[in-house]
Amino acid sequence: MYEPFYGLTENPFRMTPDSRYFYPSARHLDALNHMVYAIDDRRGFVVITGEIGSGKTTLSRVLFQKLGSKTKTAIIRNTQLTPRDLIELVMDEYEIDYRPGMRKMQMVGLLNEFLIEQLRRDYNVVLLIDEAQNLTPSVLEEVRMLSNLETETDKLIQIILMGQPELKDKLWLPSLTQLRQRVTLHYHLGAMDGPETVGYILHRLKVAGGDGSPAFDEEALARIYSYTGGVPRLINGLCDRALLTGFVNEAKPIGGAVIDEVARELPALVDSPDGMVPEPQGESADAPSDGEKTA
Ligand SMILES: Nc1ncnc2c1ncn2[C@@H]1O[C@H](COP(=O)(O)OP(=O)(O)OP(=O)(O)O)[C@@H](O)[C@H]1O
Ligand SMILES: [Mg+2]
Repeated sequence: MYEPFYGLTENPFRMTPDSRYFYPSARHLDALNHMVYAIDDRRGFVVITGEIGSGKTTLSRVLFQKLGSKTKTAIIRNTQLTPRDLIELVMDEYEIDYRPGMRKMQMVGLLNEFLIEQLRRDYNVVLLIDEAQNLTPSVLEEVRMLSNLETETDKLIQIILMGQPELKDKLWLPSLTQLRQRVTLHYHLGAMDGPETVGYILHRLKVAGGDGSPAFDEEALARIYSYTGGVPRLINGLCDRALLTGFVNEAKPIGGAVIDEVARELPALVDSPDGMVPEPQGESADAPSDGEKTA
């Protein structure tokens, strides 16, 4: 509704992880490059963690678009699964035929044959599991079994587990030591810094058809960063509301006062004691530094 007033052709701050809007901040790009490298190099098992709303699902979409035609990809987003559900989903994703009553072991046998055939044809097979923090230990154990599928010289399947920071805690469960030891790369996606936050907002406005006239003044942009700590989903929520309020008040560009007013009404932003997120929500202290190899 506010779009024409701000010279836009569509809503720039929708919540969907639309890869058209992808802004390659240094961190997002780094995470992406780590995943591409791990896949191309057949590193086997990669873990990507990131704060809530930091852009993990968006990255998974961009990654899959980037992978070449010699890659077979499967993505699992439904994580309320039993170990059998997981194998069935994987079979379905790769379009491998199996009989419904088949034992899980037999299905894994078929999957193994499929993977060996792909290797012979020089295809690389990638399985990405999003929201992996929700997987139960027994499903994670099943993932480990999948990561065991290998020949004497090659990993047959490249697995990317992607999830919120609790995923890392889960991997530290004593029962999952073996799985943890197989992780060849762990990357933690931090929030964007101030300049990146500004770049992100301007980028989204441009993709939404922006004619280049400023929708937010400098003070507003600085305040958006202080309230959101550079977390993309929080930025989207705040900017969307600010554009609506700005439109109603015919404010163009929008100033800091509108941002303050709107931020007070957004539940996602008032969790902190004074409603401000004082520091950027970067890497947590105990997380490995970006891209650290943990095995
Ligand atoms: N690099 C980026 N470029 C453009 N938009 C982004 C980027 N990162 C995140 N977003 C936007 O931020 C919002 C949240 O992103 P996304 O859903 O990918 O986060 P997430 O880390 O998967 O969240 P959750 O922890 O809830 O699963 C989406 O609207 C998405 O479009
Ligand atoms: Mg997500």
